[in-house]
Amino acid sequence: MADHETTWGDHPRTTVRLRPGERVTLCRCFQSKNFPFCDGSHREVAGRGPVTVVVLQEEPSGSRGVI
Ligand code: FES
Repeated sequence: MADHETTWGDHPRTTVRLRPGERVTLCRCFQSKNFPFCDGSHREVAGRGPVTVVVLQEEPSGSRGVI
């Protein structure tokens, strides 16, 4: 499972670390009880649904992906 770290300041930011071949569905409605991952709660509210992310290959050394 992906590692994640969420910090709450003026603007919340969550960093998700994925490994090659890993696939996760991320919440965009902010209602998930398992944030940042979608738990299906978006079905109860109007707004954005989830987005699925798949890592196709390993990042080059020194680069960093931020969601
Ligand atoms: S629970 Fe938020 S998008 Fe699914």
